[in-house]
This record gives sequence, structure tokens and C-alpha cells, in this order.
Amino acid sequence: MRVALVVSIICALIVLITSEDRQCQARNVGIPGRSIVCVCNAVYCDSITRENPAPGTYVVYTSSYAGQRFEKSVGNIEVDPTRTEDDNVRPENDEDENEFEDTSLIRVSYRIFTNTRFQFIEGFGGSITDAASINWRKLSRAAQTNLIESYFGPEGIEYNLIRIPIAGCDFSTHPYTYNEYPWHDAELTNYTLSSEDYFYRLPMLATSLRTAREEVKITASAWSPPIWMKTNERITGFGQLRPQYYQAYADYHLRFLEELEKMNIKVWAITTTNEPINGIVPLAPFNSLGWLPSQLARWVANNLGPTIRNSRFNQTKIFAVDDQRYLLHYYVLGMEREDPKSIEYIDGIAVHYYGNFVPASILSNLQNRYPNKMLLSTEACEGPMPWDEHKVELGSWDRARNYVRYILQDLNNFVVGWIDWNLCLDPEGGPNWANNFVDAPILVYGDQDEFIKQPMFYAMGHFSKFIPRGSRRIQVSRRSLATVENLAVIKPNGHIVVVLQNANENERIVHLRISATRFIELTMEARSVKTIEINPN
Ligand SMILES: *[C@@H]1O[C@H](CO)[C@@H](O)[C@H](O)[C@H]1NC(C)=O
Ligand SMILES: *[C@@H]1O[C@H](CO)[C@@H](O)[C@H](O)[C@H]1NC(C)=O
Repeated sequence: MRVALVVSIICALIVLITSEDRQCQARNVGIPGRSIVCVCNAVYCDSITRENPAPGTYVVYTSSYAGQRFEKSVGNIEVDPTRTEDDNVRPENDEDENEFEDTSLIRVSYRIFTNTRFQFIEGFGGSITDAASINWRKLSRAAQTNLIESYFGPEGIEYNLIRIPIAGCDFSTHPYTYNEYPWHDAELTNYTLSSEDYFYRLPMLATSLRTAREEVKITASAWSPPIWMKTNERITGFGQLRPQYYQAYADYHLRFLEELEKMNIKVWAITTTNEPINGIVPLAPFNSLGWLPSQLARWVANNLGPTIRNSRFNQTKIFAVDDQRYLLHYYVLGMEREDPKSIEYIDGIAVHYYGNFVPASILSNLQNRYPNKMLLSTEACEGPMPWDEHKVELGSWDRARNYVRYILQDLNNFVVGWIDWNLCLDPEGGPNWANNFVDAPILVYGDQDEFIKQPMFYAMGHFSKFIPRGSRRIQVSRRSLATVENLAVIKPNGHIVVVLQNANENERIVHLRISATRFIELTMEARSVKTIEINPN
């Protein structure tokens, strides 16, 4: 009863902001167990503006299974008169249950240590595949604008990262590469971008870059080289690079940087080939190139690394592996064993989402071993597995919960940025020439000139909108038996941003101490995610 009283007093103190935001136009998808989707078209789309908390206050944004989408409230930082600054304890070694201040099952208590700082954050984003851009072009001009503004605009979720395939991938209408003809053309005399690039992808990319307020950093990945470079002369299956084309494949990457430069588009990073295991263990029936760690090491050390570093694109970051969590050590350690120079050439290690059944602590281990390499999450989607019953799960809150859960895991284990897969797909989760349909945060209904934002869109936004580039992760220590999933960062302006997820079927009361004496307390609805921006000044 005492708890309930305290909670109702706190709730009474929270004032709802009446803001200019356009609300989610909610649609019930009519499937039991699902949440709502938000409908956008040429004349309407929901928006979100970030409120700047005044000193001593905080702003909370809530999304939930029950249907809240970035719902705003504000509150004041409170002072606990029973505490003094001198209980400013060490951040570590505090998860001893005997010391927990609270052992109830619904009260959650954390202490945030703003001076214990970890990695800097690069940002968040999604991918401009052929499929995404083909779907986008199905919309009228005005609806296209609303879609891009939803992702990149100041009233959208302000993405600042994009990944693009170098030529085709499975999310294309047909398999293709650049310089397919003539065969054995090691000089790449016929390297031209595709009609998909000119008609779909580059316009979407240019519009995104124009819409964003800050620099959008682009990461480019090849899925397969032209098949004449490969041992199996096929786009899929068990096939590696023919040694006589190691340099040609490095040049294939350099040529892409040159082609985009002609469009005034700067590529921030390249990866060393998408999912290299797919061409070694050929279970994935789409565009691939197999690399063993030793082969990848030789190519990076002798070809790709020198080619990029000796070019005018010498600042381009190189991310190795670009594959699942459980393969990172195998590749990176194997590369180091074969040729340590290959490790010197890389700026970071890229990881995908589909092996997240192994613990995220793998990432921290890798960071400890290679403290100067960035960890970047370059691909994620829900519904990709053969055993996934539904490729697209309209309005699924569980999929949004998974996104939030794995982003929190990754960021708490040193990942600096997180790039979602297709920015938008059709209602079947395509097009995909290899029938590898998956889900996406936005689905496009071309005939109705309409698109819908799924819960996953808001899951991404809870991070991308509120954690700007240059923010830094800080220490969160648990002081209660009960938990919620959590992350805290400090922004360049000194504000603290906390992302919390309560994946439980009932509510949690969360007590967050930001210093020995100052705290905030709030109630987390069942199955909800909150981003809290605190101005501690
Ligand atoms: C260059 O590429 C285009 C497009 O694939 C192809 O039609 C053309 O035949 C190629 N040129 C040569 C000389 O192979
Ligand atoms: C990197 O490239 C720029 C031109 O883009 C050049 O001015 C600079 O000297 C190069 N740096 C190195 C270390 O080669």
C-alpha cells in the first residue's frame, strides 16, 4: 500500500507535455497478441520532436505493447535528504545480493556513475538495398518524403548511419554484380553502376543525406564479386576468390568509392565482404563469397589494405568479418595468426544479428583483446530463419522487444553503432530474388500509397533519436533483486540518456540514482520501453 501511495504521488507530479507532435495514426492489425501499427501516407505521418529538459528535470518517452508511441512526460530530479554525498561508493563489486537495498519483485533500483565511461557511440541506421528503394519508389512523392523524414528528419528518428550493398544482394530482383562482362577483366574496364543504383538506390540515398541534419556515415559491403573471379563461377554456393583476382577484388571496392564520389557521396567504411561463412558452409542460397580466415588475412594484408590506404580514400574505415557473433573470434584470431598486418589494416569488426543466441560477452572479450578496434553492428532483422513461422509479423511487439534487447546487449558490450537491415519492404517482406523474405520496421503498400511503421521502428527510435554521435556509455549498477534491461550514456552536452525495457507482463517501479543524493523514480508499464533524458545540471 505504501508503494502504491508513493507511486500515485509521483504520477501526480508528472505533467504531460502538450506538444506539437503528430500522433501515431494507429491501426489495429486484427491479429490476437499483436500491437498496433502507425499508418502514414502522402498527407499524414506521425512525428516526434525531442524536448530539451530544463536543468534539474528529465523528459521520458514511452512506447509499449498497449499502444503508446514515444509518449512524452516530464519530471523533476529529486533529492534524498537521508543520504549524504559520502556514500559515493565504487561502481564495481556491488552486485552482492546481501547489499541490495530492495528485494521486492517489482521495485528496481540502479545507480548511474557518470564518471565511469566506456565507448563513444557512432550512431544508428538502416540499409538502402534494392528492395528498400524499389518499395520507396512505389510511393507518391509526398509519401516518399514522409518515409525519408520518418527515418532521417529532425521530426523523425534521426538516423545517422546507412549501409549499402556494393551491387546486388538477395534483396534485389535478380542476382548481379558490377563488371560482369567481359570475363577475366582484371582491369575492371567495364565497371558501371546498375540501373537499380541510378533509378532507385542513389535517389533514396541522396534524399536521405539531404534530409538528415548531421553527417550520415555510409558503410558499403559486397556480397559477391563478378562470378569470373570466383572458383565456382556462380553467384551462390561454395566458392572463394581465385588468387589471381585478389587485387581485382580490392580494386572492385576502390572503384565503388570512386563511383559514389562522382555523385558527391562519401563512403565512411567498407566491410571485407558480407557474411564470408556463406561461401564456405553454403547454407544460405544467395549472393556470397567464401573466405577462410587465412585467405581473408592475405587479401586484407596484401590487397585491400594497401589499395585503400594508398588511395585518396585512405580515410575509409575497414571493418572485418561482417558475420555472426559466434564467428568473430574464429575470423579475427585466424587472421592475426595468418598475417598480423591484416589486423593493423582494419579499423574495426562488424557483427550481424542472427547468432545472438550466443552471449554478447563475446563482444567484450574481443574488445579486450583488440582495444583499438571498433565493434559495429551492420545487419539485423527479424524473421530470417527457415523455422520462423512468419516472415512478416504485422504489429509484433515481440520483435520490437528483441531489437531493444539486442541493441542494449550490443551497446553494453562495446558496440559503437547499430545498423538495421532493409529500411522498408513490401507486405510479404520482399522483393528478394532468393525468396529469403524477412520483416522490416516499415512496410510499403504501393497500391494504397501508404506505409506503416511497425513497433520495430519505434524500438530503433528509442536509441537513434536520443543518443547522438559522440555520446559515451556510462556505468549502471544494480541495487535491487528485480531488474529491467538498461543502458545509460552521457551526451556531449552532459545530459544523461537512459534506455530501459520492461519485458515483463506487469509493471515495474524504477528508482534511478544519478548521484549519491539525487534520483528519479518512475513506473514502467508492462511490455514497454522508455528513453529518459536527464539534465543533471
Ligand atoms: C559491359 O557491361 C554491359 C552491362 O553488363 C554489357 O552489356 C556489355 O556487353 C559489357 N561490355 C563488354 C565489352 O563486355
Ligand atoms: C590521404 O589522402 C589525401 C587525399 O585524399 C591526401 O591528401 C593525404 O596525403 C593522404 N594521406 C596519406 C597518409 O596517404
